[in-house]
Amino acid sequence: MPHRLTIHVRRPSKRKPFRAFVFEQPGNPLECVNLRSFAPLPNPRPGQVQLKMLMAPINPSDVNVLQGVYPFKPPPRTDLGTENALYVPGNEGVGVVVEVGNGVNSLKVGDRVALAMPQAGTWSNFLNIDAASLIPTGNRVTDVQAATMSQSPYGFDVAPKLCQLSGGDFVVQNGANSAVGIGLRTINLPNHDSLKQYLQDLGGDHVLTYEELGDPSIRDRVNGWTLGKPIRLALNCVSGKHTTSMMRLVGKDANLVSYGAMSKQPLSLPTSLFIFKNLTAHGFMLGTWFQRHSMDERRTVMQEIIGMLENGQIKEPAYEILPLRGNDVEITRTLQNVLSKLEEGSHGKKFILQFVD
Ligand SMILES: NC(=O)c1ccc[n+]([C@@H]2O[C@H](COP(=O)([O-])OP(=O)(O)OC[C@H]3O[C@@H](n4cnc5c(N)ncnc54)[C@H](OP(=O)(O)O)[C@@H]3O)[C@@H](O)[C@H]2O)c1
Repeated sequence: MPHRLTIHVRRPSKRKPFRAFVFEQPGNPLECVNLRSFAPLPNPRPGQVQLKMLMAPINPSDVNVLQGVYPFKPPPRTDLGTENALYVPGNEGVGVVVEVGNGVNSLKVGDRVALAMPQAGTWSNFLNIDAASLIPTGNRVTDVQAATMSQSPYGFDVAPKLCQLSGGDFVVQNGANSAVGIGLRTINLPNHDSLKQYLQDLGGDHVLTYEELGDPSIRDRVNGWTLGKPIRLALNCVSGKHTTSMMRLVGKDANLVSYGAMSKQPLSLPTSLFIFKNLTAHGFMLGTWFQRHSMDERRTVMQEIIGMLENGQIKEPAYEILPLRGNDVEITRTLQNVLSKLEEGSHGKKFILQFVD
């Protein structure tokens, strides 16, 4: 069952402590980050609102930030009464407006919003943030959908446009635990055979295991699915040998968009692909895309994604919610347990922090 929409409205007079996962220096994620409690946040400044955070996912990029290997970093926090600046991780999430700063007309108390500003520090219970950077979600998407819609779906919406694809064109994608509609037909390569049915139920047109990809007859099978129409776009978040095999499926003038490297292996492509198939290979980084596009353009994409979620064209990834209850040490342990599972690899679902009172 999808998680239901929840709205919590806080009275400004009963300010609660600000609680956030923080790190001072990047390092081993199991050691460098912990939950700490601070004095309540001040009123939001003019142009800002205060959010009570509901949920925030743990994305691979958040782990990379903790490790210090990500090109973007949260802004240093010198307002928390600590000797040294601290950093609050968390790129994505959903919150509800509990206070509105002067001059904000676009949002009111009780509005639920998705965070669309990179490195906003969503792993915290409250957040003062510019109202203009927030995307109202309405009430037809769930908390989980709202919390997870501003990263991966964004790329999937943007990449086909980048390559000028249109409805009916085929896309092949690896790391395919999330379904993509966008009017395109998808061939999906998940990391586990057991996810085959799950991805088909989500709307993936065809699902192949990495083992099947190695079968010499696979090209004929795929040709049958596409009725001979060449595959124009390959989306890669895995790299390594599975991506090299995936690229055997694409047709002339295809584009490869790489946005992740979950296998931690380099991307290796046969030169013949470039020469004989006129392949174009792109890298895609959402943070860079954000920097190069206006808030209006970002909002337009987000509204398209909300529309696709509302009409079921795309769905949230498989997930597990982690309610954050207890004292600072207990909540830190909850995060450490999950980070250690993530370090072991394969888990088949996204973990989502849920801020509870
Ligand atoms: N460039 C950008 O702007 C951008 C934006 C968003 C995300 N990303 C990147 O996209 C990737 C996925 O992000 P996400 O948020 O969708 O993460 P996610 O929900 O945790 O999904 C990660 C996917 O990678 C698979 N995977 C993990 N280790 C693997 C391995 N060794 N070989 C093959 N597949 C493996 C996972 O399979 P299991 O189910 O087995 O764990 C899962 O399907 C990450 O690399 C992330 O950094 C990039």
